[in-house]
Amino acid sequence: MVCRRKSLYLQVETKCLIEKNKIDMREKIEALMAEIAGLKNLKEQEIEALRVRLLGKKGEITALFDEFRTVAPEMKREFGQKLNVLKQAATSKIEELKSSAESEAAQNKPAVDCSLPGDIVDLGSRHPVSIVREEIIKIFRKFGYDVAEGPEIEDDYHVFEALNFPPEHPARDMQDTFFVTSGKNPVLLRTHTSSVQVRAMEKLPLPIRIVCPGRVFRNEAISARAHCIFHQVEGLYIDEGVTFADMKQAILLFAREMFGPETKIRMRPSYFPFTEPSAEVDVSCNICHGKGCNVCKGTGWLEILGCGMVDPNVLEASGIDSKKYSGFAFGMGVERIAMLKWQVKDLRHYFENDLRFLKEFETSI
Ligand code: PHE
Repeated sequence: MVCRRKSLYLQVETKCLIEKNKIDMREKIEALMAEIAGLKNLKEQEIEALRVRLLGKKGEITALFDEFRTVAPEMKREFGQKLNVLKQAATSKIEELKSSAESEAAQNKPAVDCSLPGDIVDLGSRHPVSIVREEIIKIFRKFGYDVAEGPEIEDDYHVFEALNFPPEHPARDMQDTFFVTSGKNPVLLRTHTSSVQVRAMEKLPLPIRIVCPGRVFRNEAISARAHCIFHQVEGLYIDEGVTFADMKQAILLFAREMFGPETKIRMRPSYFPFTEPSAEVDVSCNICHGKGCNVCKGTGWLEILGCGMVDPNVLEASGIDSKKYSGFAFGMGVERIAMLKWQVKDLRHYFENDLRFLKEFETSI
């Protein structure tokens, strides 16, 4: 009897428990369904946490499936369906949240298409004036000349006085020279690289064999044939027994290296205060080969430089014994050589930095 009663009690108790569980489960399922429906815009980490919380080994939905085993047989159908719908809703929500998080991350990233061809980096090229200056230096280095440089802002002494320019010489005139200061020994922009000769003679041991490249400045109106800034290369050779024939030979060899082995030179008498005798040197026209064309203006010759034997006054002014030593000097305009080499008709092209012009001379360094 006791036994029966007890089992009856147990039966009632179990039924109550099941009843309670049923209510709990239904509420839980509905609460989770509502929560899942309302989820949006989660970050990737939050989505993973949600998946573990609901569907992981100890997840809430997994627990409900465990609990489902205790549901009374007549209720299994209803709860089975509900649970499957819940699990399906959770799974597809998680997928949906994942794909929208991914597409948002993709939108925030800069769009890089690694398969596109890269930007073409334009290689620079050397300026034609640099190319010719280097070529001139290279030729004279081969002949044993060193390179010397001097200041662009000079004093009157090194540009004029030490080079035997009489005080009234027109080259000192304000029209030709850019003066920085006036006074007893005015400061100015050098009008030629012959000033570097003076500095070399003052400080270098003899014999001297140098070329001096550099910028020079003249107060001239800019035109196709003249500019207020241009480049020169000066040459100076001083030793015992240097003659005019040595100078002629050095210039001839240079001209052949620069303009081709067939090149001829001719010398015309000229005047420079710092050389005596002085000459201007022409090379045979490398376009018509002496027949006459519009580049050489029908003469067959092109002027390339000025030269002469260094005036004894100039040697003495720099403390060199003119009885023992003699020498020659020459000076050429780099732009002029470049114009002749490449038949450029207008000097201004060299200063305008038009890439279409600059790129014609060299494509790589
Ligand atoms: N300095 C001269 C000029 O600028 C060129 C030159 C140099 C001439 C050396 C003779 C000797 O015109």
